[in-house]
Order: sequence, then C-alpha cells, then structure tokens
Amino acid sequence: MTIREEVATKAKEIDAVIMPYLPDVVGPQKTIYEAMEYTMQAGGKRIRPMLMKETYKMFGGNSKVVEPFMAAIEMIHTYSLIHDDLPALDNDDYRRGKKTAHIVFGEAMAVLAGDALLNYAFEVATKAFDYVDHLEDVARAMKILAKKPGIFGMIGGQVVDVELEGKPLTMEQIEFIHRKKTAALIEASMMIGATLAGAGEGEVQMMKRIGRKIGLAFQIQDDILDVIGDEENLGKPVGSDEKNQKTTYVSLVGLEQAKKDVKKLCDDAMNQIQLFIGEDDFLMDLITYLIDREK
Ligand code: IPE
Ligand code: IPE
Ligand code: MG
Ligand code: MG
Ligand code: MG
Repeated sequence: MTIREEVATKAKEIDAVIMPYLPDVVGPQKTIYEAMEYTMQAGGKRIRPMLMKETYKMFGGNSKVVEPFMAAIEMIHTYSLIHDDLPALDNDDYRRGKKTAHIVFGEAMAVLAGDALLNYAFEVATKAFDYVDHLEDVARAMKILAKKPGIFGMIGGQVVDVELEGKPLTMEQIEFIHRKKTAALIEASMMIGATLAGAGEGEVQMMKRIGRKIGLAFQIQDDILDVIGDEENLGKPVGSDEKNQKTTYVSLVGLEQAKKDVKKLCDDAMNQIQLFIGEDDFLMDLITYLIDREK
C-alpha cells in the first residue's frame, strides 16, 4: 500500500467512528443538521482526528474515550472551514470537492452551521466522561479543546490573517498567523491524544512542540498548493490567496524555499518523535505524506 492509500484507509476508519455522532436529519430544525452533515461528509482528509488517535495509541491509550474528542476536533475544524469560506472572509465557492455551505444553504444557514458544529463539538466531547472512571484526564483534555480553537489560537490567527489582507507581512507576522490559525488545532489534536492516554504534563508539552512544527509545515504546504495545486484534486479553488491579496509564505520566500522549509519542519518533527517516543511507523508515514500531499 502506498502512503496515500494508507492514509485514505485510515480516514475511512475515522469516518466510521466520527460520523455516527452527527444528529439524525429530522425535526423542525433539520436544515441545520443537513448543513452540518453536508460539509462534514464532503470528504476531508481527517488529519486532525488521525493525529489525535495515533498520538493516543503511541502513549498506550486503548479505549473509546478518545472517540468523542476525535469527532469534536473534526467538527471544530469543519466549522472553521465553513466560516473561512464565507463571502465576508475568503469568499470561496468550493470546499472538499463540493459547493461551499453558503452557496448551497445560503449565508445565514452557513453561519449557523458553523456555530452549530462548534457548539455541538463540546456536547459530543462531554460524552467521553461516560467512558472512563478516571475523569481528570478527560477534564484536562476538555481544557485544551476549549482553548486552542479560541481567541488565543485559531480565531486569533484568523483575525490577523483577515486584518492584514492586502498588506505586506514580515516573516514574524506570517509565522504568528500560521501558528495560530492552523497549528493550534494540530497541536490540540496531539496534546489531547497524549492527555487522554494519561501522559504527563512534560510529554503533553512535547507533543505541543511537535504539533506546532507539523502545523506550520501543513500551512506552508497549503499556501504552496494554493499556487501550484490542481483544483480538481484539491477540492477547493487555487489562487484564493492571490484573489484576496494575502501575503503568504510562498509570496514571501518563494516556492523553492517554501518547499525546503516544509521538509525541514517535517524532518524536525519526525526526529523529535523518534528521539522521545521511538519508532512509530504510521505516524512517520503520515508526516511524510504531509510533505508530498497534493490535496
Ligand atoms: C484546510 O485544512 C485548512 C487549513 C488549516 C490549511 P485541511 O487541508 O486539513 O482540510 P480538509 O479537512 O482536508 O478538507
Ligand atoms: C484557513 O487558512 C485556516 C482556517 C482556520 C480555516 P486558509 O484560508 O488558507 O485555508 P483554505 O486554503 O481556505 O483551506
Ligand atoms: Mg482563510
Ligand atoms: Mg480560505
Ligand atoms: Mg489556503
């Protein structure tokens, strides 16, 4: 199996775990259930729940307690995409190979579907309390889940990203945006995986540092694909950053340097994992896939 096939197979396994957490599409407010499901099932790569599960396993976790959190992080990520695509933000018409939620359901429903996924993520995550006797780790994981997508994390990054549109940025500003808008949820995924498996605070902080490197590499690659990607394969528009006059990592350092930096960050992350935790074949493959991904 190629790495790409391996990741696709894992993504299917993840879908089998997370999709049943979505509500049935019945009742007076069923439009919102439909809109939530529409973007959730449109076919994301499921990188965040995948990293969460692999980190959980790496630290010896072996129960269902991680499952509600896997669903929650993907719901929060999906909400961030629905809102990122809105006319007021990036104004994009395609996402995950389909028309964006605001095109299909209208802008009001897309705003509400984002709100709904964010709130429902927390409802779902609290189900983890039913799966274990030792509630403290779940409480610690809830704390991470509450903080990383918020004003000190993902939202913070989106704010600066939007506010600095059309302006030349320094490397420091770009790194702040990447660290917050993208790395925060990837850090959260790995930190929650470790926490739920009972890892100590030092180990969780180490996963944060590794997650940050993976997250930065992931967003640089996203900026690269916005320039050289294939729209069909990517499932979202190329040239969105240029359209919105964003200074990106690529516009700042050039394509070749950006590619080198992705590789360097991924190599660093892999070395740290090997050094501290030991060989983990799938995790290594997953990071390698992130360097070469075309979608
Ligand atoms: C897209 O994330 C937004 C970024 C933070 C770069 P993904 O590339 O993980 O999107 P999906 O989930 O596969 O659609
Ligand atoms: C958005 O970054 C990251 C989010 C928090 C959604 P982008 O705007 O570059 O993501 P894409 O390219 O639309 O997926
Ligand atoms: Mg954006
Ligand atoms: Mg965007
Ligand atoms: Mg992008």
